[in-house]
Amino acid sequence: MKILVAYFSAEKGRTAAVANVIAEQLKADLFEIKPTVPYSKADLRWINPFARCNKEKMGKKEVPVTGKIENFSDYDTVFLGFPIWYGCAPNVVNTFCKDYDWNGKKVFLFATSGGGGMGKSAEKLAPYVKGAEIAGEKLVKKPEEIKPWLEKAV
Ligand SMILES: Cc1cc2nc3c(=O)[nH]c(=O)nc-3n(C[C@H](O)[C@H](O)[C@H](O)COP(=O)(O)O)c2cc1C
Repeated sequence: MKILVAYFSAEKGRTAAVANVIAEQLKADLFEIKPTVPYSKADLRWINPFARCNKEKMGKKEVPVTGKIENFSDYDTVFLGFPIWYGCAPNVVNTFCKDYDWNGKKVFLFATSGGGGMGKSAEKLAPYVKGAEIAGEKLVKKPEEIKPWLEKAV
């Protein structure tokens, strides 16, 4: 089984830290989903209605991604990680997913949040990973939760 861990992390690197643990545990490849234009601190100030994050959310905007995974078809399982934004995955994750053929893949979602749950993350991502099975999801609150989840998942 060949596993990819693809993740987006913006604020404090919390999702990146989880992604690294998963990749290490599973001896998986790691890919960071990076927007072509990186987010500044001001871009992420959701309390400002004109901040980039709010404009992207309200405008249902695509957020172009840097780099491409050339051997994506080699992976049968993908762990997809992100911080919860507005109750689900950030737009940049949708844009990332749209670039690939997900047919037949097993997908596990993982996320960090400021306290909220994963909500409808899976349902909302489903159209962007057409043909894949979303086989599990995990909101990681503490690093020690990761290992037992992985042992059950794969
Ligand atoms: C634009 C934006 C929207 C957010 N929306 C939510 C939310 O709906 N619920 C929640 O619990 N946390 C929300 N957060 C907090 C992040 O999910 C949380 O800080 C996350 O752990 C950051 O991960 P990172 O360091 O990998 O970017 C939001 C953060 C930002 C910047």
